[in-house]
Formats: sequence, structure tokens, C-alpha cells
Amino acid sequence: MIMKKIFAALLLVVLSAYAALAEDVELPAPEKSGGIGVLDAIALRQSAGNFADEEITLQQLSNVLWAAGGVNRDDGKLTYATASNLQDMIIFAFTREAVYKYNPQAHSITVIAKGDYRKLTGGQPFVAKAAIDLLYVQDAGKWDNLNRKTPPEVILNCGFAHAGLSMQNVYLYAASVGWGARTRMNFDRDGLTKLLKLNKKHNFTLMQCVGPKL
Ligand SMILES: Cc1cc2nc3c(=O)[nH]c(=O)nc-3n(C[C@H](O)[C@H](O)[C@H](O)COP(=O)(O)O)c2cc1C
Repeated sequence: MIMKKIFAALLLVVLSAYAALAEDVELPAPEKSGGIGVLDAIALRQSAGNFADEEITLQQLSNVLWAAGGVNRDDGKLTYATASNLQDMIIFAFTREAVYKYNPQAHSITVIAKGDYRKLTGGQPFVAKAAIDLLYVQDAGKWDNLNRKTPPEVILNCGFAHAGLSMQNVYLYAASVGWGARTRMNFDRDGLTKLLKLNKKHNFTLMQCVGPKL
């Protein structure tokens, strides 16, 4: 009897921990004006080599995620183009506080893991210092909804194209507000697969550091 009670109590603790982890955080509306002009931002675009491990606000996280892949029209389409508007990219954000999955239609983030996992996303020294490490994962399962068969390598190519289009928005956002950004291809795929509970339909593409510079 006592064992049953202990088991029930443990189950409750585990379930409430899981519920707490699965929490959604509504983001403040993104700032859609301001910064420097787009031509000036293109002129300044570059990959940064040093980041300041500074705290950022939820508003800044909101702005970055919206630039990366938020909704910019009433019909639910995004700030970057996707093949057949499949919107097959999942953007994860690693910050000092937690790992989040971005939900573009709700403009919210789901907490995937609490804690600082930035280091897991790459061995280069600046990686753990960048305020946000973005991971771009393609959900190839979305292509099953099309009534045509697409070769897996074409699907993957589109995943990289989507990541590139999205990342350029982030580069331009960073240039516009005086932050740094850097694309990265080296990260711990096994560790991230486990942490994010990814499956065979999930294709890794690239990562990107973004945040205040040193
Ligand atoms: C597909 C791709 C992968 C990259 N991977 C890395 C990387 O793993 N580590 C890194 O420090 N920089 C990486 N970079 C950044 C490049 O080194 C950088 O873009 C290049 O030196 C040109 O500099 P710029 O972006 O300032 O023009 C990558 C860039 C691209 C486009």
C-alpha cells in the first residue's frame, strides 16, 4: 500500500514536471518598424566572431524569431519563402534560460528544456556566449501532405534553402540593430536529437548565433 502511494506521488511529480516543461510562453508583438534601412543593413551584413554573454529581453527574442520566421501577412504566410508554402521549418532557440520551440502562427514559444544548453550546440568558444543560438530543423513529414512524390534529396535541398532564406533575415535584423550573427554547420547532432526528441523525419540544416557583440 505504502509503495503504491510512493509510486503515485512520484508519478505526480514527474507529470507536473513534464507539464511545466511543456509550457507555452506568449511573446510580445514583434517590432515591425525601426532599425536602419534595408539597403544599409545589406551593406553591413557580416558574420560576427565575438558575442557578449548579455541578457536580452523577451521583446528582443520576439523580434529575432519574427524576423527569422514569423507571420507577416493576414493569410498566415511567413517572413521567408517556403516551397508550396509548406512552412516545414522548425526553429529552436537556445538561450541562457532555456531551449524553446518557436510557434510562428501563435507567435509563442514552447519551453522544451529549462537551463542553458547553448554549449551543446557547438564547440566554437563564442557559441555559448551568443544570446541566442538558433537551430533550423526541417520537418520533412510536412511533404507527405502534398499529392505528389518528391525525392528526399530535393526535400532536403529545400530545407537548406528555407534555412538560408530565414537566416538572411536574421543577419539583416542583426545588422539593423547593431547585433552580430553567424551561420554554423557544426553542432552535436546526437545530443540535440535526444534533447529535442527529434525523429527520422526531422532533417538538421544549419545553426546561427545571434545577439549583442563584444
Ligand atoms: C553554410 C555555412 C556554414 C557555416 N559554418 C560555419 C561554422 O561552422 N563556423 C563558423 O564559425 N562559421 C561558419 N560559417 C560562416 C562563414 O565562415 C562566413 O559566412 C564566411 O567566412 C564569410 O563571412 P561573412 O559571412 O562575414 O561574409 C558558415 C557559413 C555558411 C554559409
